Amino acid sequence: MNKTIIIIGGSTGIGKALVEEAAKEPSNKIFAFARKDDLMRDNFQVLTNVSTYHLDLEFFDEKKISEIIANIRSIDILINNAGYLVKNSFNKLSHKDFLKSYQINVIGIMQFVQAAIPKMNPNGSHIVNISSMGGFQGSVKFPGLTAYSTSKAALCSFTELFAEEYKDSGIKMNCLCLGAVQTEMLEEAFPGFKAPHSPEEIASFIYSFAATQGDFMNGKIIPVSQSTP
Ligand SMILES: NC(=O)c1ccc[n+]([C@@H]2O[C@H](COP(=O)([O-])OP(=O)(O)OC[C@H]3O[C@@H](n4cnc5c(N)ncnc54)[C@H](OP(=O)(O)O)[C@@H]3O)[C@@H](O)[C@H]2O)c1
Repeated sequence: MNKTIIIIGGSTGIGKALVEEAAKEPSNKIFAFARKDDLMRDNFQVLTNVSTYHLDLEFFDEKKISEIIANIRSIDILINNAGYLVKNSFNKLSHKDFLKSYQINVIGIMQFVQAAIPKMNPNGSHIVNISSMGGFQGSVKFPGLTAYSTSKAALCSFTELFAEEYKDSGIKMNCLCLGAVQTEMLEEAFPGFKAPHSPEEIASFIYSFAATQGDFMNGKIIPVSQSTP
C-alpha cells in the first residue's frame, strides 16, 4: 500500500501481470520498464498509477536510466523480472549468445540496481530478482539452456553478494527461482508443455512476496516450484 514500485520487463508474460497486480492498489505508483514501451503504453493506458519507460538491458544506457530514476522520489520495491532465453545445444551456442544472455539476465540487472541504489528507501526497501529453477543449484537441468541457466545462476549469486554488502542498509535483496509458468518464453523453450501456473497466478505470489518479505529475509535464493529438487 502506498508503495513506489519499479518493474523491469513489464511488457509481456509475468511482468505484464505483475504491473497489473501492483496497480490494483490505487495508492501504489508503478514504473514499468522494457523495450516494447509502445505495447506497455497501450496495455496500461487505463491504469492511471502506471508510467512506462523504454529500457534495453542489452545496451544499458546508464545516463538515460539515471535521469529517469532521479525523478522518482523514493523506491520501495524493485522487481528485476526481465529475462532473455536462447535455446541451442552447447556446441552451437555462439559467443554472442553467451554475451547477450549474461548482459540481459545479470549484468544489465546489476547496472540497473547500481542506478537505483541512491533512490532505494533507506528505511526499508526490497529488491526481488526473478531467476529460474534452471539456475538453482541441484535442480533438474535441461539440454540447450546453458547460456540461459548459467546466467540465471549468476543472478542468484549476485543476490547473496549484494545482500552481504548492503546488510547494514535498509535495502534487502532476495531471489525467486521460478518453475514453469505459461508464457511465450516457456512455449519457445518447451513447445507444448503445460505449466502449472498462469502469469497472473505467479504475479500475485511475486507481488505479495515483494511487498511483505523484505522485513524477514535477505540474500535468500528461493525455489518456487512444487517439484523436488
Ligand atoms: N515462464 C517461465 O516458465 C519462467 C520460468 C523461470 C523463470 N522465468 C523468468 O521470468 C521472467 C519473465 O519471463 P516470462 O516467462 O514472462 O517471459 P517473457 O514474456 O518473454 O518476458 C520477458 C520480459 O523481459 C523483457 N526483456 C527481454 N529482453 C530485454 C531487454 N534486452 N531489455 C529489457 N527488457 C527485456 C521483455 O520485454 P521487451 O521484450 O519488451 O524488452 C519482457 O517484458 C524472466 O526473467 C524469465 O527468465 C520464467
